[in-house]
Amino acid sequence: MPGGGPIGAPLGLLGEAPGVQEAASGLPFVGQAGRVLEDALAAVGVRRQDCYVGNRVRCRPPANRISEYPDALNECDTWTRAELALYNPRVMVLLGKTAFTPIFGDHPVWQVRGHMRHTGVEHPWGSRLWVATYHPAAVLRKMELFEMLVGDIRLAASAIGDLV
Ligand code: URA
Repeated sequence: MPGGGPIGAPLGLLGEAPGVQEAASGLPFVGQAGRVLEDALAAVGVRRQDCYVGNRVRCRPPANRISEYPDALNECDTWTRAELALYNPRVMVLLGKTAFTPIFGDHPVWQVRGHMRHTGVEHPWGSRLWVATYHPAAVLRKMELFEMLVGDIRLAASAIGDLV
């Protein structure tokens, strides 16, 4: 399933992989996790339709076992990087470990969230600002995380103002 949004969307959101509803509809974040994401965006005054929204993994992995399919992950990254080059969001929010590992490394989310990282033109994922945060599905399991998701999206959105 491809990601999408307006070309030149200033803000982008990258998730993990399609869930059941996403696989059925062909659209990212249309299920329960999508509702959490839209609530968090609304809390900072950002409209989903103004953002690039995609997933690092493009097909629903059997039993959601992404780590068992490293080749698929690598192949998907080629497509995701091409999508980012096309839509070119200047600031990206990475939702959960699968999404943030290529930029922030294999660390627990609490260690890397709340900070902004910059990559330059020479970086395989392009020249952008990046913010790592909790996956909306984790927020569904633990609602206390919602404020951190909102705070991290706010941090990303505030960087857009600095760039223009
Ligand atoms: N979880 C994700 O990571 N992506 C979706 O699109 C839906 C749920």
